[in-house]
Amino acid sequence: MSVVLAFDQGTTSSRAIAFEQSGAVLGVAQREFKQHYPQPGWVEHDADEIWQSQLAVAQEVIASCGLSVADIAAIGITNQRETTLLWDRSTGEPIHHAIVWQDRRTSQFCDSLRSDGHGELVQSKTGLLIDPYFSATKIRWLLDHVPDARRRAEAGEIAFGTMDSWLIWKLTGGRVHVTDVTNASRTMLLDIRTGRWDDELLSLLEIPASILPDVQPSSHVYGETETQWFGGAIKIAGAAGDQQSALFGQNCTRHGMAKNTYGTGCFMLMNIGEQPLMSKHQLLTSIAATAASGDGPPKRNYALEGSVFVAGAAVQWLRDGLGIIESSSEIEALAKSVPDSDGVYVVPAMAGLGAPHWDSYARGTIVGLTRGSNRGHIARATLEGIAHQVADVLDVMQQDSGIAIKELRVDGGASANDLLMQFQADIMKTPVVRPEMTETTSMGAAYLAGLAVGFWKDLDQIASIWKTERVFHPEMSDAEVALRRERWSEALQRSRSWEQ
Ligand code: G3P
Repeated sequence: MSVVLAFDQGTTSSRAIAFEQSGAVLGVAQREFKQHYPQPGWVEHDADEIWQSQLAVAQEVIASCGLSVADIAAIGITNQRETTLLWDRSTGEPIHHAIVWQDRRTSQFCDSLRSDGHGELVQSKTGLLIDPYFSATKIRWLLDHVPDARRRAEAGEIAFGTMDSWLIWKLTGGRVHVTDVTNASRTMLLDIRTGRWDDELLSLLEIPASILPDVQPSSHVYGETETQWFGGAIKIAGAAGDQQSALFGQNCTRHGMAKNTYGTGCFMLMNIGEQPLMSKHQLLTSIAATAASGDGPPKRNYALEGSVFVAGAAVQWLRDGLGIIESSSEIEALAKSVPDSDGVYVVPAMAGLGAPHWDSYARGTIVGLTRGSNRGHIARATLEGIAHQVADVLDVMQQDSGIAIKELRVDGGASANDLLMQFQADIMKTPVVRPEMTETTSMGAAYLAGLAVGFWKDLDQIASIWKTERVFHPEMSDAEVALRRERWSEALQRSRSWEQ
């Protein structure tokens, strides 16, 4: 066996990566798929297109690396979390497009759940805040709006899944309906202390238990692929939501270790050990991915998370919406074309504000423009806006956990941007550590699968693969940091409650 295949089913693309035992990448294939925006604030995916794109990249990487089924020890899946799909169990047909995690269509329903006083129950059981972000209210919307869906669900004809479930279902030819515990912990239906679906929440949200997948560990043999997909059976042995997978891939397996991923959004997660601490500052508590190591069974670990909805998506907006760059990688040079943002602040709240502000009605805002402002200032202020959001999360994460984070490990596309990483370290007054291998999301899924089938022996072996590429040390003066943080808070206030 020479490789583990990781499937990374993200928000904008599906990828497949073949990892060797040394952690080296043997091959990568990637395919973007269409985003559907049927109404303002709504975001949908065609689940069949997701499946086809994921299958195609897997077949492509297998072919381009000259692999046969016998070379592949296992498949590990990592995925955009919360994105919600209902499909017909007998035909395998989705009953509607998947509703994407960014979709805000259930904002008002969430408001009513909060005003009816359910917030405390939801947080104490699930570790989450009532928000359209999570799967539960999206399921409810589908059951209420797709003709006949509720009756069919109650008759046991409908299955629910996040993208891990959907892919495992498809890969196994509809034989296996499971999810892993990290994905389950993002639905707002799981009791994170027991790791089981919660009846009280199901009845509050009027969701029939019959639609739910079985919850399994993240490092576990769920089933085998149908021969038709790859010419033989391959074990599917790992699954984790992409952020928990990145935490695992960054080797943040000990209490107090934290990572931030710069993707479409930004997701900072800290391993908080075996007790599910509840945030006082609107952070989320979820189950972290763990695997058995050596003789011991996997211990459940929890993660504190701050999710920022728009990060890389703001750079895409500069490219596709404003047209001031042609490719995302141009932003660093454009931002460097000016010495600073000259008082311009960009609050990238195009999809509302996530942690720690949670304002679904906030909208993107640019303040401080003068006649001297140019596209360089806007580019720089956009990068700074991403970093300020991450700093807001880090501040409260340290307060909630009582842990001063010694370093923040980074990954994801924008972690390659040196200007952003230096500003990030400056504004947080915390070193930012970039590993040599920034494919940590896929790496995490590969590790989870590889550990389940003995491709890697234990956590020590995988820890030895992780290496630092560069550390960004904070350099900005305290007075400058304080001034910029204060101006940022003022800009943020102006973006709030815009849509209400
Ligand atoms: O919670 C949403 C997150 O899992 C999506 O991540 O990287 O696909 O944008 P990404």
